[in-house]
Amino acid sequence: MTKTLVKCENVNKMVFLSIKPEDTYNYAKDFASGIKSGAVISLTGPLGSGKTVFVQGLAQGLGIKAKIKSPTYILMQNHGRFYHVDAYRLENSQALLNLGFKEILADKNNLIIIEWGDKIRDILPKDTININLEHIDQNKRRIEIGIK
Ligand SMILES: Nc1ncnc2c1ncn2[C@@H]1O[C@H](COP(=O)(O)OP(=O)(O)OP(=O)(O)O)[C@@H](O)[C@H]1O
Ligand SMILES: [Mg+2]
Repeated sequence: MTKTLVKCENVNKMVFLSIKPEDTYNYAKDFASGIKSGAVISLTGPLGSGKTVFVQGLAQGLGIKAKIKSPTYILMQNHGRFYHVDAYRLENSQALLNLGFKEILADKNNLIIIEWGDKIRDILPKDTININLEHIDQNKRRIEIGIK
């Protein structure tokens, strides 16, 4: 696994190369130790780029025992204070707001991770952690984490 920290203007970017699913999983698991409750994480990247694998690793790192599934058909699932959203099917943020998402975002005891977070960017806080995953080839992924 190669990690590079790039600092540009006011944005810190961490880029790493994952060469197998376990790399993505383990990176996310380690990442869990550095995030505080109240954090909002937006995952972007095409179908199959590893967003759900990342969420699974993160949940493991947070000590969540439940099996994290891809909630593509569910929109939002929570395991205690850990909220997992999949915005793939959303046209806009309204359906989430109807589920009380504004209140969930406002509660700093929650930790929220959103697959396809770019679809609801308008309602996410400014300090959202943005993580983009891109395919390099079948098993390689470029993962970029931007922290303002
Ligand atoms: N380096 C890698 N990191 C993550 N996943 C990988 C990697 N190499 C191969 N894969 C495979 O790619 C797939 C990633 O699936 P995953 O469901 O995590 O993607 P996703 O981005 O959540 O897709 P969707 O947009 O459909 O929700 C899995 O089948 C996984 O085994
Ligand atoms: Mg997914």
